[in-house]
Amino acid sequence: MSATPARDAIDWGRVRADFPLLAREVHGKPLVYLDSANTGQKPAAVIEAVDDFYRRHNANVSRAVHALGSEATEAYEGARAKLARFLKVRADELVLCSGTTFALNLVAYSWALPRLKAGDAILLTRMEHHANIVPWQLVAERTGARIKVAELRPDGALDLDALFAAMTPDVRLLGLAHVSNVLGTINPVAAICREARARGITTVVDGSQAAPHMALDLPALGCDFYAVTGHKMCGPTGTGALWARREHLEAMPPFLGGGEMIKEVRFEGTVFNDPPHRFEAGTPNIAGHVGLGAAVDYLSDLGMAHVAAREAELLAHATEELQRIDGLRIIGTAPEKAAVVSFLVDGAHAHDLATLLDLDGVAVRSGHHCAHPLMQWYGVPATCRASFAFYNTHADVEALAAALRKARGLLA
Ligand SMILES: Cc1ncc(COP(=O)(O)O)c(C=O)c1O
Repeated sequence: MSATPARDAIDWGRVRADFPLLAREVHGKPLVYLDSANTGQKPAAVIEAVDDFYRRHNANVSRAVHALGSEATEAYEGARAKLARFLKVRADELVLCSGTTFALNLVAYSWALPRLKAGDAILLTRMEHHANIVPWQLVAERTGARIKVAELRPDGALDLDALFAAMTPDVRLLGLAHVSNVLGTINPVAAICREARARGITTVVDGSQAAPHMALDLPALGCDFYAVTGHKMCGPTGTGALWARREHLEAMPPFLGGGEMIKEVRFEGTVFNDPPHRFEAGTPNIAGHVGLGAAVDYLSDLGMAHVAAREAELLAHATEELQRIDGLRIIGTAPEKAAVVSFLVDGAHAHDLATLLDLDGVAVRSGHHCAHPLMQWYGVPATCRASFAFYNTHADVEALAAALRKARGLLA
């Protein structure tokens, strides 16, 4: 596909055909995959890049001088450079890791733990994924800092007045999702980070649900740390990255010790490597990151503006269809939303609904979506969630609505 074609020129049917798994059937029905917020499907280009790495280039990185060692190192560092261009950051500010969970824990252990103390506060929003809550609780337990929560408006948007009011002088760190995995809410990260910076608060943004769906320019967002996960961006599982400004990385001690992250080891003491390698102890997921590099190429060729526009169309269609179903309530109706629709249906448990949809080939997630505090706020144990990607079609939206009507009839 040529670089950034005009939007009308993209044949989305052909794009879908790039994803081999989407051609399969489930329970004898064509698969309608609406769980991309959980993990994204992979285009053939990504699968082939991983396959090619293992067939032709497999070796460990940054160690061997033989040809394969250089090829593997070049491929791995090449993937870092591609992801850096995609996020508009410097490659030496990008720590490759297993995903958002690792990235956020790295900030918690290497940045927060040595700095926070009793009397400090960590500010989180109600809509955070457990990956952006639990590491901070662990830090709070060990430092004596306390956790504060910024609440939402009923539509699932952040209450910005309340958030800014909660930025009191004791707050040292703000943990914030760019996009909610449950509500789809897109938070105004640049404006929030500006307010936080003015108060000396360090910002940690969970970009898991943003990077697959919109063009990003991390320095322009003005945050201190930003985490992405590769498996939601058409890349392999166990891949991702933490971005931080160089001065933060330089000032941070290692999180894990081992090979790769050192310059010299003596029993008397060790000289650590420079960032980002200081934070990449041990043999990394080389093939996975090569696959992530291919995923970034694929998304860049499509153009993230086109991806965002396509998904906005699917979201509008899905919202309209679901709103027409009696007894269905959409959870999360913020004005700025990504293509995620959580919903409840009167008289039906989310798991029963998802099980019936699955029998019709429609894959949605049901449950708490790793966001217990958000579920508690809405007073529900679980929701169903249909999450879309650019490879979905309007026919997928119609199949969801038809399967929901049928399921509702069966459960009524
Ligand atoms: C908003 C958000 N944060 C963090 C994560 C965790 O990402 P990973 O499991 O790839 O580390 C997810 C995954 O569902 C997510 O949706």
